[in-house]
Amino acid sequence: MSDALIEPLGRLRLGVNIDHVATVRNARGSAYPDPVRAAKLAEEAGADGITAHLREDRRHISDTDIERLIETLSLPLNFEMAATDEMQAIALRHKPHAVCIVPEKREERTTEGGLEVAREENKLAHFIAPLRDAGCRVSIFIAADPAQIEAAARIGAAVIELHTGAYCDFHAEGKFDERDAELARLRDMSAYAHSLGLEVHAGHGLTYDTVQPVAAFPEVMELNIGHFLIGEAIFRGLTPAIAEMRRLMDEARI
Ligand code: PXP
Repeated sequence: MSDALIEPLGRLRLGVNIDHVATVRNARGSAYPDPVRAAKLAEEAGADGITAHLREDRRHISDTDIERLIETLSLPLNFEMAATDEMQAIALRHKPHAVCIVPEKREERTTEGGLEVAREENKLAHFIAPLRDAGCRVSIFIAADPAQIEAAARIGAAVIELHTGAYCDFHAEGKFDERDAELARLRDMSAYAHSLGLEVHAGHGLTYDTVQPVAAFPEVMELNIGHFLIGEAIFRGLTPAIAEMRRLMDEARI
């Protein structure tokens, strides 16, 4: 798609992922630092949404965190979860603004790949239908792969979130040819998903060094960023860390 055909798509939203505030809390089994307090600060710092991943093993965010976020947040909550009956029941009880379906393996350190939508199309179509009926915007976390995008459109997802982890890893490892090839795939697949009527989000592993090329894709409407921001908050504080990310995103969008 040529740039001339892309309409201006407006301000890029920033979803701040607060999982790793809970990681630090859980390292000592204490009540602090409180991810809900971090979510409120993120709101004041200019976040457009809060993202939290309730993992099957509850390694960071807990069920109580989700309840408290739903009760106290004025920002929309993007609830990341695996496609399991347990998580579906929790999402249907709380009805968050958005539900992002992610693959989840117990042994992985973080969400390593995108969801295999094409392989599990029928199962996922049935899985997301009640969430959609409950008013949640359903997003599917996938790699920049046309087969996955087409399957996400067929099952009736409103949104896809493109996994930027490989792009960020190549950058960190100094593999710049591979990084640029992955970036080109992300750019092409953002345009392709948009042409199929899907709203496009992106995230995973983004830092101050890697955010701008992705933020510049006109079809991308939202970035979800967590681990780097929580780490950076140790050095500059959460509000300045988020404000700098916001500034870089806005600069890339001009
Ligand atoms: N988007 C999705 C779907 C994720 O699973 C995660 C990690 O929980 C993120 C974004 C944020 O990734 P990071 O913490 O590396 O910024």
